[in-house]
Amino acid sequence: MKDASPQTIYLKDYTPFGWQVADVHLTVALSPDATRVRSRIRFEPNPDAPAQRFFLHGEDLRLIRASIDGTEVTPVLTAEGLECDVPEGGFLWESEVEIAPAANTALEGLYMSNGMYCTQCEAEGFRKITYYPDRPDVMSVFTVRIEGDEPVKLSNGNPVAQGEGWAEWHDPWPKPAYLFALVAGELLNHPGSFTTMSGREVELNIYVRPGDEGKCAFGMQALKDSMRWDEEVYGREYDLDIFNIVAVDDFNMGAMENKGLNVFNSSCVLASPETSTDANFERIEAIIAHEYFHNWTGNRITCRDWFQLCLKEGLTVFRDSQFTSDMRSAEVKRISDVIDLRARQFPEDQGPLSHPVRPESFQEINNFYTATVYEKGAEVIGMLRRLVGAEAYGKALDLYFERHDGQACTIEDWLKVFEDSTGRDLTQFKRWYSQSGTPHLKVSDDYTDGTYTLTFTQETPPTPGQPEKAPQVLPIAVGLLNPNGDEVVPTTMLEMTEATQSFTFEGLNAKPVPSILRGFSAPVVLMRESTAEEKSFLLAHDTDAFNRWEASRDLARACLLAMITEGAGPDLAWIDALEQVLRDTTLDPAFRALMLALPTQAELAQMLHARGVTPDPDAIYAATETLRDAMATRWSALLPELMAEAQVDAPYAPDAEQSGKRTLGNAVLSLQTRLDGGKAAQAQYDAADNMTMQLSALSCLITAGAEDAALAAFEAQWKDDRLVMDKWFALQVAATAPEKAVARAAALTERADFDWKNPNRFRAVMGSLAMNHAGFHARDGSGYRFLADWLIKLDEKNPQTTARMCSVFQTWKRYDADRQALMKAALERIAARPGLSRDVTEMVTRLLG
Ligand code: ARG
Ligand code: ZN
Repeated sequence: MKDASPQTIYLKDYTPFGWQVADVHLTVALSPDATRVRSRIRFEPNPDAPAQRFFLHGEDLRLIRASIDGTEVTPVLTAEGLECDVPEGGFLWESEVEIAPAANTALEGLYMSNGMYCTQCEAEGFRKITYYPDRPDVMSVFTVRIEGDEPVKLSNGNPVAQGEGWAEWHDPWPKPAYLFALVAGELLNHPGSFTTMSGREVELNIYVRPGDEGKCAFGMQALKDSMRWDEEVYGREYDLDIFNIVAVDDFNMGAMENKGLNVFNSSCVLASPETSTDANFERIEAIIAHEYFHNWTGNRITCRDWFQLCLKEGLTVFRDSQFTSDMRSAEVKRISDVIDLRARQFPEDQGPLSHPVRPESFQEINNFYTATVYEKGAEVIGMLRRLVGAEAYGKALDLYFERHDGQACTIEDWLKVFEDSTGRDLTQFKRWYSQSGTPHLKVSDDYTDGTYTLTFTQETPPTPGQPEKAPQVLPIAVGLLNPNGDEVVPTTMLEMTEATQSFTFEGLNAKPVPSILRGFSAPVVLMRESTAEEKSFLLAHDTDAFNRWEASRDLARACLLAMITEGAGPDLAWIDALEQVLRDTTLDPAFRALMLALPTQAELAQMLHARGVTPDPDAIYAATETLRDAMATRWSALLPELMAEAQVDAPYAPDAEQSGKRTLGNAVLSLQTRLDGGKAAQAQYDAADNMTMQLSALSCLITAGAEDAALAAFEAQWKDDRLVMDKWFALQVAATAPEKAVARAAALTERADFDWKNPNRFRAVMGSLAMNHAGFHARDGSGYRFLADWLIKLDEKNPQTTARMCSVFQTWKRYDADRQALMKAALERIAARPGLSRDVTEMVTRLLG
């Protein structure tokens, strides 16, 4: 971990491991400070590998003894593992090591969380459990014996036997070590069952700490829905007798797809109406689906090496978004995904951390579990499906499962399946995997004698290590509207492959209004100068929900930019046009709520920067506030009507219909608060019987500066619920006025319940401060210093979470010279910490580079 000059690993250097692992037997004797792990591993020569010295990964292990074919050996211990002379041919390797899970604050390998044992092995955590070829292309069958007094002892696969103080599990499916899991503790299970498409009965369980058993029902239903959906849509059936999920409080990421034993951050599985918001419910459903879908896309077919991470993550994100679209509203899901992509992936792809969907080098793979690998990776698959069509996509996936089941694959394997099943040449398309950066797409048009021509030009700005870019394949979905608002050309998929390319539409009787990039058919920045009139026209008439929303967003952006750069006032014409949409009760309330939201301050900063204007966070904040005030004032009559329409009278259900109404109602409440100083919000707070209503009311009260009583009441009510208190911590920092944000965050860190080693609590405060754009970017640099202090402190305990959070600095070059200097100083101070982790070293180097 503490490595002075981290080593860079390259995709081009891939070499297969010299042995295959026939099977693995582990015995884990649990003890907080001295767990003993005995391994018995049968190695066979790998005929496809070059000759090499026998090497096993191992980190933070105390080797007790090792033997080969029963004879004690003395391996050479290195910083990364061990080397050893081995016989030619196959042999039996045995070892015993000691590890200390209670001292493991990095939450990687075997560690303890609230008295329970659990593991996180992806990407390279198994090497902290025992000596092993810890790489995804080494797959084997595991048998695991767990010894300990804990009443519940779980591992992968099926349970085979158990007795007093021990339990044995066997996983018949060969898997890489990163999918290994072990859990033990005093846990309760919420049981369920599922009958697969071929009629097999599968036992399901969600294991939680006592006290949380009432928060499992929703997750269990989501699991069953996911299992059914994967059968119906992808023809994929579950393949073990049992499927277990465990909720863990201390977890670096969201969740992990270990074979038959998914481990979840408790925030991503536990749900109840009183403690979870509608957004939490939707996210939990999506993550349960995501991890379950990995059983085929990730586990049965895994990655050859970590450069191929998008092979499983991009595809699985794509699959979970299809699932959510089917379970809820496809249009709302698409718009939400694009909002998220622009908020998280675009800044990454347009700054110093930019990397291809399939990176070509890394120092610490944990730093590449990024929005680019996941979300852009999913967008790439969406484009592929748009290009070949839904049916051909289905056939290609069938071939993928048939051809590669049980294998560790590459992006080349994935694309070959599409080439073989469709006959398409995907050489150019493959650039989406190797070329980083967000393409800019410019459009011009011409109408002559009934022929309408659209001319597109694509250009991708340089990114680190990639000064030159080649044209990419862009599916551009276009529809054309007549001046009277009728659609004359329905959605047509144009396939752009050149740097500049024209497409014509004939037989039109008037110059049409184009609706371009419908459904956000490619992850690009569309740069089309169009008039406010045209945007308003699309807002009123476009048949494509995404572009209708985008038209409104464009108007909001233009309005805010004019306010910021020209001192203009709010665009009342846009506010009035939007009112018409908001009054259209045939539209889904969730869609209307999306129309009502403004672009984030970070997005505005990015837009200004792209136009060559240095963004001033205070001016951006002020403009946003002024516009919201103007919307509230202008809609003083509309707001109560919408509020009434959004009223939910039925008992709480986290479904799309109810949550859409609540989202709209709460968006309206935040405007209403600007008119009444928090009266309606306080009333909603007092009456709330679910977390969605309670939390949004609290948020409004904070914005209004009228939160003291509600904050205290909330704390008194929820002080014993860690997940709810995370929200309490987060909201205060995120929703408070910028000038108070840093002080507020600092005060929260003084509290006894600011358990900073818990990643959820740390992120609640630090992540929220970064989200408070003008607060984080306080002119005096206090936000930067505060974050840097905490990152320096956390790195000693948990490099992975620290490194992820370093990305809050990724936009530093966007701002004015003073702020740049302050952010640079903060990064340099982090870089100077003696013993800085490999994770953070890599991040800070890239950020400064
Ligand atoms: N494979 C997991 C998922 O996306 C993520 C685990 C990543 N963990 C890590 N330490 N990098 O579902
Ligand atoms: Zn995943």
